[in-house]
Amino acid sequence: MNRQQSKENFQGEGLRFPDGFVWGTATAGHQVEGGNIASDWWAWETLGLVEDGTKSGRAVDYWNRFEEDHALMASFGLKAFRLGIEWSRIEPERGKIDKDAIARYHEIFQSLRRHNIKICLTIYHWVLPVWIAKQGDWLNPATLCHLEDFAKLVIDEFGEYPDLWITINEPMVPAVAGNLLGLFPPQRRSLRHYRSIVKALLKAHACLYELIHKRVPLAPDGGSTKVGVAQAYPCVEPWGSGGFRGLYEKVMTPLVRYLAYGAWDRAILSGCSGLFGIGGKNRQLYDSYDFCGVNYYFRMSLRFDGSKREQFYIDESGMPDGIIGTDMGWQIYPEGLYGMLEHIWRRFKRPIYITENGIADSGDDLRPAYILRHVAQVYRAIEAGIPVKGYYHWSFIDNFEWREGFAKKFGLIEVDHADDTLLRKPRPSAELFGEITKNNGLTRDMVQKYAPEALEEIFGTMNDE
Ligand code: FCB
Repeated sequence: MNRQQSKENFQGEGLRFPDGFVWGTATAGHQVEGGNIASDWWAWETLGLVEDGTKSGRAVDYWNRFEEDHALMASFGLKAFRLGIEWSRIEPERGKIDKDAIARYHEIFQSLRRHNIKICLTIYHWVLPVWIAKQGDWLNPATLCHLEDFAKLVIDEFGEYPDLWITINEPMVPAVAGNLLGLFPPQRRSLRHYRSIVKALLKAHACLYELIHKRVPLAPDGGSTKVGVAQAYPCVEPWGSGGFRGLYEKVMTPLVRYLAYGAWDRAILSGCSGLFGIGGKNRQLYDSYDFCGVNYYFRMSLRFDGSKREQFYIDESGMPDGIIGTDMGWQIYPEGLYGMLEHIWRRFKRPIYITENGIADSGDDLRPAYILRHVAQVYRAIEAGIPVKGYYHWSFIDNFEWREGFAKKFGLIEVDHADDTLLRKPRPSAELFGEITKNNGLTRDMVQKYAPEALEEIFGTMNDE
């Protein structure tokens, strides 16, 4: 990176982003829409397996209140929105297409357009129709054919709207959490199934990538259609113990990185994957990305723990001294975002969008500084020549946080799930993010106003170098 240049910019009164930088927020269908009851997640929730005992239920009723939500976004000057489409809504039973659901998605997209909000659309964000789940989900080769039919319908219906397409959200998460560790539906615990699922998702991604490009030649702005994956990139580091323990941590670190994102990245870069049984170069998979979608939340410090046999003797939940944790117990570590951006740019040499970054913080005590510190790292990356083109904050609104239910609050907008009216209450962070969007960057005054504790880090420390 050009240190001198970066130093000058950090010393200035503000960090101004390049023109056209996209500022937005993100959600996923099942987490906000409500009433997604023909899905495998809903079936799993009804077994009482969500940690806080809640179920997605009506979620925040985005399905009916989207107009109000888009108006709220616009009132904060938000210019882009990442949302998902729910397969089980459109095709609740095999071959039975719900015309009303299609009409509703059209209304949602058109409302976003009216509010001048650009659309980033995710096709698969972990949730399947229950009829697909009953047929063996991704383990059944027929699922890929069903996905292809569904995707054709989605692309032909809605292809005119998205500025960005995400084929799959964090593919390694359903594979690891649902098939290796048994934490998500379908709660399998098997290395063999984990490998089969990743292989199927790689094929699904390649198929979606090709279909979108074939059927949507141009983006709404007249430019080329942009398709990618939103990948989870945790910053993984060794805890730093001494002796044998430290050695073990150092050996496990690259392995965990490989399983978390490296193996997938390698497969789409090269078109083949020994680990996932794709021998030879799969031409559909090779080079199947126009941009890199980066979901970044935290650092994981891997510490040897002899009692954690089921986790290969690794405890990843420790909080090093001086690091603050979120309501999820995740380490806040903005420098890790910069490191990941460098790594991703080196590997892929494609434009990057931060497709998720955010914090569970019910009191909104830590969020303002979290946003400012992470945005400052994005700026630092841009200054270093890394083409980051946009930032989507997770989440626009409090939502159903999978296994954790409604207890974890990620929203810029607060919603009390137990309140019948589901009143939308903007948190101070919503004001801050709106100011960042309107200014296309952050200023010293903003930091002073919302998180003075971050002033030194963002504007000061570089002075002392
Ligand atoms: C990501 C998921 C998203 C949300 C955030 C907090 O891993 O993609 O749906 O749950 O974490």
